[in-house]
Amino acid sequence: MTFLFNSDARRGAIFAEAFGKELPDLPFVMDPATVDPDAVRYLITWTVPENLDRYRNLEILFSLGAGVDQFRFDAVPATVKIVRMIEEGIVRMMQEYVTLGVLALHRNLPAYLAQQRAGEWRDIAQLQAGSRRIGVLGLGQLGQAVLDRLGPFGFPLSGWSRSPRQIEGVRCHHGELGLKEMIAASDILVALLPLTEETRGFLNADLFAKLPEGAALVHTGRGPQLDHQALVAALDRGHLSAAMIDVTDPEPLPAGHPFWSHPKIILTPHVASVTQPATAARAVIDNIRRHRAGLDPIGLVDRSRGY
Ligand code: NDP
Ligand code: OXD
Repeated sequence: MTFLFNSDARRGAIFAEAFGKELPDLPFVMDPATVDPDAVRYLITWTVPENLDRYRNLEILFSLGAGVDQFRFDAVPATVKIVRMIEEGIVRMMQEYVTLGVLALHRNLPAYLAQQRAGEWRDIAQLQAGSRRIGVLGLGQLGQAVLDRLGPFGFPLSGWSRSPRQIEGVRCHHGELGLKEMIAASDILVALLPLTEETRGFLNADLFAKLPEGAALVHTGRGPQLDHQALVAALDRGHLSAAMIDVTDPEPLPAGHPFWSHPKIILTPHVASVTQPATAARAVIDNIRRHRAGLDPIGLVDRSRGY
């Protein structure tokens, strides 16, 4: 039985140390050229390697990321469990980023940065947190964690998911009707949905038109969920006030793309949250222990839902 680590050596060294201490009976290999393919039971990777069928006895394919849209499910035998990354480092960083984005948009930072560049000293009417409604698309590990972090600021909080949820202090919505209700009442919309066939192109002109006048967007899900042109149009006609965007399609954006210089957009290069190797190794080790004990791993992907 072998664990194969298919990513960079820096992270690999941290994983190797943790595995050596916690699972000394499980050989840990970083170089696929030296591994006996039949011995590989566990593989961790960002993307599915071309030659996955070489690992005939693979039991779990671990994603190094929280998202698994980069995996082509049909290239993974049905007997192999696909497990996404659930670890405290990703959660903490996403809490930081979304809090940064929500506060920046709440306190009119894009407009103040534009004023600074224009040499203008002028205050902008400031809403109090209790009057700024935040809506979060996606109530999974990350959506729930950011809502938890935003709670103490006093914003009225809502969230939307596929299935009904109950979260203290959060108005929870689900389904089409729930989406309509939440969008109409979100002054800052936070997008934290996985990329699936249902969520591709989700942040589009129709959705933007249903947001309240002057609403703003924090997008940290996946690039192909956002219609770039529709966002720019909504910002330019003033219906939306600003956006903080971490994910785009493609990544990186080509030179000259309007997001690079749009005064109402703050753009970051897909850095909202990054897998932290020490905590990620712990999470994977725990999952291998669960698997060995006959339990489902935490973060098991439901292939039929796509996440
Ligand atoms: P989870 O799988 O834990 O949660 C996904 C949430 O989205 C669930 O609440 C789910 O509903 C909801 N959802 C999915 N599809 C639909 C749909 N069609 N309609 C309504 N709700 C839907 O994911 P995470 O919270 O761990 O991560 C979310 C995404 O964040 C990742 O997939 C990834 O794309 C992105 N991400 C981005 C990072 C960055 O740096 N920018 C870093 C890490 C992740 P239900 O609860 O009913 O299942
Ligand atoms: C992830 C990411 O999915 O970094 O973890 O985007």
